[in-house]
Amino acid sequence: MIDGRPSTTALRAATQRAMHQKLDRPLVFDDPLALPLLAPLGELATPPRTAPIRAWMAARSRFAEDALARARARGCTQYVLLGAGLDTFAYRQASGHTPAPPLPVFEVDHPDTQRWKRSLLREAGIGEPSGVTYVPVDLARSGLAEALSAAGYRAHEPACFAWLGVTPYLTEDAIHDTLRVVRSLNPRGEIVFDYLVAGRELSWRSRLAQYVIERYVARLGEHVLSHLSPSRLAPRLRELGWSTVDDIDCPALNALYFADRADGLRISGGVARIVHAR
Ligand SMILES: C[S@@+](CC[C@H](N)C(=O)[O-])C[C@H]1O[C@@H](n2cnc3c(N)ncnc32)[C@H](O)[C@@H]1O
Repeated sequence: MIDGRPSTTALRAATQRAMHQKLDRPLVFDDPLALPLLAPLGELATPPRTAPIRAWMAARSRFAEDALARARARGCTQYVLLGAGLDTFAYRQASGHTPAPPLPVFEVDHPDTQRWKRSLLREAGIGEPSGVTYVPVDLARSGLAEALSAAGYRAHEPACFAWLGVTPYLTEDAIHDTLRVVRSLNPRGEIVFDYLVAGRELSWRSRLAQYVIERYVARLGEHVLSHLSPSRLAPRLRELGWSTVDDIDCPALNALYFADRADGLRISGGVARIVHAR
């Protein structure tokens, strides 16, 4: 991220979710606040030919909220969004659009992005519900555990963490430190996160696609700092204490969410994966 400026990729991800509401039927991820939240910014613009990226953004948010719904059935009582960006779960929940009863939500984000999101919410006329707590933290430094505890996170109650679109912008050390902290804060809980796959495990076509995406986000001022290897990640998560690790690739997400669509919307390539550990 550029010092003193909110995350541009957070705006790009939110724009893709908003375009999904506008362009795609059936919806994979139903987010009635995606467009209203961005209304103060004027006309939305996405580069042409980004349908596969839109599909990925819709699928990863849907996957996280499906995992949350199952975690709630297992007794999860808190939701923590790490690198929340312009995620609207807390505001949809307050307007009755998600299953009741409401869950306390902790939105952890870089302070510059969080400040901007809160001003955007005000401009869009979307209230801050009492159940949401804002926790400004730079995940590249330490302090997540202390900040969450000070914000009222209850370590003795199971939580579901979602960490979407963030790991690529952290070093591998910062990712592992964060996973360690999440695990220690959340011994009975769960986490969903996505990551970019290490180039040596990709086809040349996917490597090329990854290169193009990384050049694009670098031009936005956000540099990709890590790629992870699926074969090393799952054992690492088990070492940290998660016993069930589902590491889902793009074809599996396509089968889950994009089968039999008339419009052909789907994720292409396989540069990223999404993990659910519990
Ligand atoms: C691509 S956006 C994803 C936002 C949101 N999770 C989503 O899916 O739309 C990346 C998010 O990571 C956050 N982020 C990047 N580096 C960070 C850091 N060092 N500490 C905390 N948050 C960070 C940004 O502020 C931004 O909200």
